Amino acid sequence: MAQVHSDVRRLLRRDLDRIEAYPAPPPLEDFARSVGVAPHDVLKLDQNENPYGCSPRVVEALRTYDWYHIYPDPAHRVLRERLANYAGAPVEQILVGNGSDELIELILRMFVEPGDRVLSFAPTFGYYETAALAAGAEYATLDRGLRFEVDPEQASRALTDRTKVVFLASPNNPTGNATPLETVRALLALNVVVVVDEAYFEFHRQTALKLFAEGYENLIVLRTFSKWAGLAGLRLGYGIFPPALTPAAWSLKPPYSVSQAALVAGVASLDDLAYLQTTVEKILIERQRLQAGLASLGYLSPYPTDANFILCNVIGRSASELQRALAARAILVRRYSSRRLENSIRFSVGRPEHTDRLLDVLEELR
Ligand SMILES: Cc1ncc(COP(=O)(O)O)c(C=O)c1O
Repeated sequence: MAQVHSDVRRLLRRDLDRIEAYPAPPPLEDFARSVGVAPHDVLKLDQNENPYGCSPRVVEALRTYDWYHIYPDPAHRVLRERLANYAGAPVEQILVGNGSDELIELILRMFVEPGDRVLSFAPTFGYYETAALAAGAEYATLDRGLRFEVDPEQASRALTDRTKVVFLASPNNPTGNATPLETVRALLALNVVVVVDEAYFEFHRQTALKLFAEGYENLIVLRTFSKWAGLAGLRLGYGIFPPALTPAAWSLKPPYSVSQAALVAGVASLDDLAYLQTTVEKILIERQRLQAGLASLGYLSPYPTDANFILCNVIGRSASELQRALAARAILVRRYSSRRLENSIRFSVGRPEHTDRLLDVLEELR
């Protein structure tokens, strides 16, 4: 038998120690067991999922689909045609991904060579950093302002000749605020690729898509079925790329990364827009009630939001202890503690009965 000479880890990329795994929460079943409740009794307000689930038509379409043993169409034609109609964008400009996460990675693979820079506006969605470092980029963030606004002049000053891509989530996660299109235009004028991530578009309905009509070739818009359509578990996102970039995107995209189940579910969702719109409206009504309830507690200061979650500053006590106390009562929320976002908690908006339960517990913990 050949002798083992050295540790196989020496063959790994040398920059891997810069990259931390994305901090995903533990599986729901494990958490439920740890606090002694059934999984259905956990109040999951930590990942901005749709509390009404997916459309019933998705369940039916998945049940009756007959061709799971055949590879999916790598061009995703049926779904892309439906998306063109839904989003109001040419079908040739649309690509589908395994969640918008896959499209974030794809974009980075399109532009980043070792040493190139990727920019975003903190605090923001953490996967931009994980994915940028994994692509070999330098990742830099610019601090958002007092109301979490983005300053294009600050971005302009931060550009180097290696800056390739700027990520802008709008509405932004976790702060909840959307960025005005005027600011997006100013970023596009910087002549780097501007990715406007509209994961929460359906809760606000402002879109950068209309800027394609103004001729920008450096704009990419991302969307997802994870939040409004209740398909987070099936992984389905899409991007609208400028025509000049679509060949590069297709050339780097793995042909079968999107499952047939996700494609079937996406089409069935778009077949049931009236139902999904009703759930979005219920969430928007509940958002208002939750916002008022949180503000009235006296120890939480909620920020305005354009999305399906509310970020709060915790006043006069520890956010980390509050998160633990909520977890002990089977309520999951997301906590933030960074230079720009100290002692804060983000609550996803749930159903009316979820708001009642959350506010009761927060009142009890007052
Ligand atoms: C701003 C933003 N972009 C992208 C995603 C990822 O979405 P997906 O589930 O489609 O990968 C999220 C999920 O939290 C998000 O908040």
